[in-house]
Amino acid sequence: MNERDSEIMSQALAGSGYVETMEMESADLVILNTCSIRAKAEQKVMSLLGLLRKQKKRHPEMQVCVAGCVAQQEGEKLVERMEHVDLVVGTQNIYQIDHLLEHARKNPGYIAISMEKDYTIPVFLPDQAMGAAYTGKGDSPSIFRKFVTIMQGCNNFCAYCVVPHTRGREVSRNVKDIKGEIRVLLESGIKEITLLGQNVNSYGQTNIVTSDGAPFSFAELLHEIAHLEGLQRLRFTTSNPKDLSDDLMKCFRDIPNLCPQFHLPVQAGSDKVLKRMNRKYSIARYLELVEQLREYCPDIALSTDIIVGFPGETDKDFEETMGVLERVRYHGSFSFKYSDRPGTAAEKFNDKVDENVKKERLMRFQDRQDEISLDRNREYVGTIREVLVESASGKALKGRTVTNHIVHVDDTLGRILRPGDLVDAEIYHAGQHSLKGKLARMK
Ligand code: 5AD
Ligand code: SF4
Repeated sequence: MNERDSEIMSQALAGSGYVETMEMESADLVILNTCSIRAKAEQKVMSLLGLLRKQKKRHPEMQVCVAGCVAQQEGEKLVERMEHVDLVVGTQNIYQIDHLLEHARKNPGYIAISMEKDYTIPVFLPDQAMGAAYTGKGDSPSIFRKFVTIMQGCNNFCAYCVVPHTRGREVSRNVKDIKGEIRVLLESGIKEITLLGQNVNSYGQTNIVTSDGAPFSFAELLHEIAHLEGLQRLRFTTSNPKDLSDDLMKCFRDIPNLCPQFHLPVQAGSDKVLKRMNRKYSIARYLELVEQLREYCPDIALSTDIIVGFPGETDKDFEETMGVLERVRYHGSFSFKYSDRPGTAAEKFNDKVDENVKKERLMRFQDRQDEISLDRNREYVGTIREVLVESASGKALKGRTVTNHIVHVDDTLGRILRPGDLVDAEIYHAGQHSLKGKLARMK
């Protein structure tokens, strides 16, 4: 989501003549697009802003802008603490970044963080400003793989999560706009699209998304998009299990270009903790969904998010999380220590877990996940997998399978391959985080 937001700002600015640079020292404008999902991400922003204070002393005409979730959350406080910040841009205001920067030039310390309940995500066609987002990236996967936002915000208020506070209420985008944006991308040579939303499963449930006012489910949207000419791979993220419908699960069986890869955050393995997290599903239900998904699509690669040390989590609760790991045997997972976020329900819970206990639990979880990931990856050895090439230098290719596994491919056939090419590779080695294969044939 943040990556797409950066791209949108980059596009808007390229339209006003800005050119992207990788050197902060020489920049006339520095935008920090921020995340506040955990305290650590926010601390990073603050220390970078400290560095920029010194740089601005040397280069006073440089503009400093803070965008995204920290900007939304902190607003005026940011400018009070960091007098060198010229502009604070909230999550719904990034589309106007070029105008806002102009405004901030005359009014340094300008704050644009207004949020509307029923706001419409603007159409932001990628060819409107073929600029920074598209140039100078060499063989970056972004030349054939793109994110498309289908909804913004979230209505779920999971007890630990700051997102509903920083991104506002859930708004789905119009089907026509989404298809239009994807068509333009496909015509420009993009092969893989990832649909983005905080909880894509509830797409279309909270507002009208078709021009004739008919409700449209996420499963229906996937069917619509999958047909678009030139789309080789379709993915999406993220899904709250509470809204996972049978129709959506069936898409993995019925839509050939929907990649068999699914990120389904479980967050915790204990029903007691899930209830306090306000997740609205039980572990039994979650495991039922996993079983059903594997029945519809036996090759599906599942991944998850886990929080350890949520307030009140006992050793027994944590063992239940380890139990889920053993039951599901995820291909991969993202795991985090619980972190207090301002304004959330959990921030006010008074049974916080000791930091060292959180650390130990996280290490145990991650060690076991690493072992399982390696075992899972070994299942691919000896099989032929389709790889979409992301980078190629000489005979060393790197790409991804439909299951989103990174594969290093030896070009034993001596073909000249480029990013975006599809090849079949015979997998001969599995590591924890990637696979190795030999080029079997071009597709
Ligand atoms: N503390 C720790 N992890 C969190 N996440 C969200 N909020 C918090 C928090 N306060 C994790 C969840 C979510 C992922 C994006 O970040 O696991 O799925
Ligand atoms: Fe946060 Fe829960 Fe919404 Fe995901 S579904 S963004 S975890 S509140």
